[in-house]
Amino acid sequence: MVPFVYDIPTRVYFGENQLTHLGQELSRFGKSVLFVYGGGSIRKTGLYDTVMSAIRESGLHAAELSGVEPNPKVDSVRRGVELCRENDVDVILAVGGGSVLDCGKYISAAVFHDGDPWDLIEKNMPTPKTLPVVTIVTMAATGSEMDTVAVISNMEKKLKIGFNRPQLRPAVSFLDPTLTYSVSRYQTACGCADIFSHAVETYFNDKGMYMVDRFFEGIMRTVVKYASVAMEKPDDYEARANIMWAASWAINGLGRIMQPYAWSCHGLEHQLSAFYDITHGLGLAILTPRWMEHILSEDTAPRLRDLGVSVFDVDPGLPLMDGAKAAIEATKKWLFETLGLASTLTEIGIGDEHIPEMAHSAVTLGLKRAFIPLTDQDAEDIFRASL
Ligand code: NZQ
Ligand code: ZN
Repeated sequence: MVPFVYDIPTRVYFGENQLTHLGQELSRFGKSVLFVYGGGSIRKTGLYDTVMSAIRESGLHAAELSGVEPNPKVDSVRRGVELCRENDVDVILAVGGGSVLDCGKYISAAVFHDGDPWDLIEKNMPTPKTLPVVTIVTMAATGSEMDTVAVISNMEKKLKIGFNRPQLRPAVSFLDPTLTYSVSRYQTACGCADIFSHAVETYFNDKGMYMVDRFFEGIMRTVVKYASVAMEKPDDYEARANIMWAASWAINGLGRIMQPYAWSCHGLEHQLSAFYDITHGLGLAILTPRWMEHILSEDTAPRLRDLGVSVFDVDPGLPLMDGAKAAIEATKKWLFETLGLASTLTEIGIGDEHIPEMAHSAVTLGLKRAFIPLTDQDAEDIFRASL
């Protein structure tokens, strides 16, 4: 295990009716709020009204940044920074899925930078000062509500990059599983594929993390157990609650802080999103089993086999390589049959036209530093195997 500092200061309100604490929490940080949200789901569910009431009743002023898109674009960040400056904002309230949360988190740092917000990512700048961020999560997937990352896209430059700074961790997050009842079957599946992938990326990272490995097997098993329940019965509280808490813990730092290596499938998927603007969890679902097949060797087989045994009840008595292959097959079966996600890039309209560029970009941005380091050729092979 590498040395690490455990420091996860996000205050979490978990469960139904916890939003009664929203006004009091926002008030801790000042009087002026930037309320960030997405394309309209919170208006349909009534959450918008609940939030506005809490803001008004607490005597706070709110500026609104609406229409933050999935795979949030740097243009939304630019609009948010302007609003913060015009309204002398003290605290950012991000209400939505990972895209909205990431946008709010990135704004919290960009507001203190005099130049264009994209500079922070492009020039890898420090963020000594940030505004506090409060989140209300409406979709369980990314874990952005408790982590230090904001993933922002720049479509002109064909780049989607995760910006990782301790200062980006939200100060307060509200996790009410009932707010995820309205998430569609498809987005529920994509979210669960994302959570599963976060656990896999952690599982295939530093060696010697026996305790952490068992913990992440538990996360994967939880998501596998409850994903189909939530898809069949969207208002199953137990399923939604377990998925929601698993999402936060899959990436909140417990595993991440001990990881010296870059994440592989995420590095590849961010390129797919940068070029084709696809749903993150869907891209991961297609890539993950192909990555597993690509890295399968005598060295990696024990880990894959353990995953299969612990998460999918693969027979522990199988010869090592057969056990590892059975784990990959079980992963495919869960992603493509149980969750019903598309199993190839071709199915979602992606061809081989950008594979060399995407592979090169993914490798340059980190895959050289993965647990199993990947070259441009490796990355190309994984993309082609996913077609
Ligand atoms: O925009 P609205 O109208 O709110 O609709 C959203 C959006 O269309 C909808 N939705 C969210 N909550 C809903 C709901 N619809 C009905 N009822 C609700 N309660 O779902 C759609 C997708 O939302 P989005 O926020 O894009 O999904 P997700 O949470 O999967 O976030 C994906 C983004 O997060 C990044 C991804 O790359 C992608 O950009 N990630 C962020 C990470 C982080 N911060 O640590 C790590 C992840 O690996 C990931 O890269
Ligand atoms: Zn992810």
